[in-house]
Amino acid sequence: MKKSTSVVRLGIIGLGNMGSSHISWIKAGKIPNLELTAVCDLKQSKLDHYPEYAHFTDYKQLLKSDLIDAVLIATPHYDHTTIGIAALKSGLHVIVEKPISVHKADCERLIAAYKPKGKKQIFAAMFNQRTDSIYQKIRELVRGGELGKIQRVNWIITDWFRTQAYYSSGGWRATWGGEGGGVLLNQCPHNLDLYQWIFGMPDKVRGFCQLGRYHDIEVEDNVTAYFEYKSGATGVFITSTGEAPGTNRLEITGEQGKLVMEGGKLHYTRNEIPMSEFSNTTTESFGRPASWNVEIPVTQKGEQHIGILKNVTNAILHGEKLLSPAPEGIHSVELGNAILMSSLLGETVDVPLPGAKFEKMLKKLVATSKPRKKKVVKTATVTDFSKSFK
Ligand SMILES: NC(=O)c1ccc[n+]([C@@H]2O[C@H](COP(=O)([O-])OP(=O)(O)OC[C@H]3O[C@@H](n4cnc5c(N)ncnc54)[C@H](O)[C@@H]3O)[C@@H](O)[C@H]2O)c1
Repeated sequence: MKKSTSVVRLGIIGLGNMGSSHISWIKAGKIPNLELTAVCDLKQSKLDHYPEYAHFTDYKQLLKSDLIDAVLIATPHYDHTTIGIAALKSGLHVIVEKPISVHKADCERLIAAYKPKGKKQIFAAMFNQRTDSIYQKIRELVRGGELGKIQRVNWIITDWFRTQAYYSSGGWRATWGGEGGGVLLNQCPHNLDLYQWIFGMPDKVRGFCQLGRYHDIEVEDNVTAYFEYKSGATGVFITSTGEAPGTNRLEITGEQGKLVMEGGKLHYTRNEIPMSEFSNTTTESFGRPASWNVEIPVTQKGEQHIGILKNVTNAILHGEKLLSPAPEGIHSVELGNAILMSSLLGETVDVPLPGAKFEKMLKKLVATSKPRKKKVVKTATVTDFSKSFK
């Protein structure tokens, strides 16, 4: 196939829920100048759904096929590292699904393989929630100093409800050996990424994980974590796949006021005088700063996966700035690893986390991993999954 400079030729590896969703968006023409030319899956039955593209069962053959300029890796997470390293070394542009790897040491291995050496090579991660204008606005307000010095962050993100059928739909899911973790590694990479994108990485983490509390799984499905920053700021992060209806409420307290995100809305209660200044200057014992209520308009829901694919295509063709560079994906993995490690050790852990120590711990869990009791059940068909993002 002839290489064009105005179109990016894409190959997708892994044609499950996520890979097939990407295909449906590209097929529908939602990403200008992105052309799918080849697909790869270990299972021929998955490939058979897409007779119009070149087929590969071995990703290495796809990488050296000369049919693609970029590759999107949508396999189970452990393979993101192996396939990602091979893809980067082959010089292709690479988009990797979240999480970029299962644990910090693997993230480091993957990122070390990215050596563009002056030549343009794009390496992006599918953190689609970065396209949401509500999170972009929160980031702008926090990082721009509108809230003043941050005192406390509370994020309850429990609207990741998953059924037993979901967990039973794939042998790799929710096992130490197949997935390497639970809600922290499958659903929450998005929130942990946004958390660090907005607030930066904490210095200390204390985690409390309940393993298989709501489902017949061996990994965590209910989590409470406490974060501490050198600045004195603290954070609490709560997540679960076993609560219905769940909550997505982010509350940020700063010297200048309180910002609350809930139900797709952003409400800011702004102090006329910053808290410390008021506290240190007033003669009143029980006074508090006067405040204004501000409803911050949030114009649109982000384009999600389509937005990231558009951004990557434009980055390759026109040098557009990447919204979600893959090397930043190490932070969400490290946070998730730190929460789990702290919970297993029963103590607070420091960040940066010793990646080799966590890898050793995870290997022990993999070695003692027990197969799930419930048998694998068949769930929704390949074309249904993309609708779940609307
Ligand atoms: N960004 C998002 O919103 C989002 C949503 C869901 C899943 N994901 C991510 O996408 C990835 C896949 O998840 P899924 O739910 O689609 O899983 P899945 O089990 O539905 O699909 C995985 C597919 O990969 C194939 N596969 C496995 N190993 C392979 C290999 N070495 N080479 C080629 N094909 C291989 C399997 O046969 C299967 O068809 C995960 O990392 C997950 O975290 C991201």
